[in-house]
Amino acid sequence: MKTKVLMVCLGNICRSPLAEGILQDKVDPEKVFVDSAGTGGYHIGKSPDPRSITVAHNHGLNIEKQRCRQFQKSDFEKFDVIYAMDRSNLNNILSLANTPEDAKKVKLLLAEVELPVIEVPDPYWDDNGFEKVFQLIDTACTSIAKKL
Ligand code: 4NP
Repeated sequence: MKTKVLMVCLGNICRSPLAEGILQDKVDPEKVFVDSAGTGGYHIGKSPDPRSITVAHNHGLNIEKQRCRQFQKSDFEKFDVIYAMDRSNLNNILSLANTPEDAKKVKLLLAEVELPVIEVPDPYWDDNGFEKVFQLIDTACTSIAKKL
């Protein structure tokens, strides 16, 4: 059975598409399934933000084929681990949990690493924030991939 990991942010166009692409690149696809979703429903069906596509491309990753979807309660059954990019995402996901088992699956992505920050900042309003976001997610995913 594959381990199934879900990356979640607010819009599913900036941070979690990067997290999906970055972790996918570090794991064996035969063993690990990675997906992403947003707690909000603003951009359903859309491609990732062009700035995320560019920063991924700069690091040799192609995330263009991803399409935005909204987090659903059924994701608690489908996934083994659900990583939230920030505390707001975490709380929004937890508010949809039906059982303690659901809630136990939800973690902050940066809780996997020892960094001075615990949240991946929302880069939507900051054109210069995308490289930093990439680096934070990449550091966490390196650690996650080693443990999977
Ligand atoms: P994300 O960034 O949560 O990293 O995908 C955002 C994208 C869009 C919006 C907010 C955050 N928005 O308000 O539309």
